[in-house]
Amino acid sequence: MTILILMPDRNVSEVVQALNVIDTDLEVRVWPDTGDKSDIEFVIVWDHPTGELKKYPNLKVIASFGAGVDHIFKDTDLPKQVPITKIVDKNLTRQMCEYVAGVIFNHRLRLTEYSEFQAAAIWAPKEARQGNNVCLLGLGNIGRCAAEYLTVLGFSVSGWSQSRKDIENVTTFHGEKSLGKAISDADYIVCLLPLTPNTENILDKTLFSKARKGAYLINVGRGGHLNEDDLLEALYQGQMSGACLDVFRTEPLPDDHPFWRHPKIHLTPHTASLTDIDQAATQFYENYQNMKDNRPLINQVDVTKGY
Ligand code: GLV
Repeated sequence: MTILILMPDRNVSEVVQALNVIDTDLEVRVWPDTGDKSDIEFVIVWDHPTGELKKYPNLKVIASFGAGVDHIFKDTDLPKQVPITKIVDKNLTRQMCEYVAGVIFNHRLRLTEYSEFQAAAIWAPKEARQGNNVCLLGLGNIGRCAAEYLTVLGFSVSGWSQSRKDIENVTTFHGEKSLGKAISDADYIVCLLPLTPNTENILDKTLFSKARKGAYLINVGRGGHLNEDDLLEALYQGQMSGACLDVFRTEPLPDDHPFWRHPKIHLTPHTASLTDIDQAATQFYENYQNMKDNRPLINQVDVTKGY
C-alpha cells in the first residue's frame, strides 16, 4: 500500500517528511518516480497532468493538497468512481477570514493610499470610508466562518450560495436568480466560491452592473471566477471603485498583465490562505487509514457538485 505525491513543480520534501513523522513505516513515493504503478492506492495531488490518474489501476483515493479541487476536475480524463477529498482546516479557514477582514479594513482606513502618500512625503488626512455592507459569495466552510467573523467585527453581512444556507445575523440568498439582489447593497463583494462550470466567470459585467456604484471587489476564489476585461471596464467606468485580487487565471501573473500596474487594483500572489503542511499530512494519514480499514473518508468532495 503506497502513497504517491503528485505535485509537479512543487518542492514536496516537507510533505514527505510530515507524513514520515506521523508514521515511519509509510511507503511514500514522489512523482514522477512512481515505481510500479499498481502499488499506488492513495495519491496526493496538486495540478497533475490530465490523464495521469488513470494510469494507477489500484487507486482508491485522490486527495487534494488544498481546499480547492478545481485543479482535479479540470482533468477531463479522471478515473471514474475514485473518491476525491479536500483539506478542511481551521487554520486555513481562519487565515482566509483574516485576509478578507484585513483587506476591508485596509480599504476603509485607506492604509495603502497613505503608504503611497508617505513615499511622496504628502500629508493629506482624509476621512475613513464608511461602507459597512459586505456580501460573501460562497457560504461553505470558509464563507460561513468569514460571515460570522465579519459580523462580530460589526459589518452588516449578507451571503449568497448555490443551495440554501442559514447563518445567524446574516441575510442569506441562494440560487442564480437571487445573485443580483444579494449583491445590490454591498460595499464589498467577496468571492469565496469553489470554481465549477456554474461559477466560472460569475464576476462579470452583468454582476458588476447590479452592484452598488463604487462597490469594491475581493476575489479569493479562483482566477476563473473573474472576467478580467469586464473588471477593467467596470473600474474605468467607476461602477466598481477597486479590487483586491489574490487569484488569477494564469499564475504566476504574467509580467505584462495590466493588473500589475493598475492604480485601482491591489494584488497578492495567491497567499490569502496557505495549506498548513502538518495539518494536511494529518488529514491525509487519517484518510489513508480510513481507506485501508474501509471506513468513510473525511472531507470527501461531492463529485456531482464539483466541490
Ligand atoms: C488554495 O487555493 C487552496 O485551494 O487551498
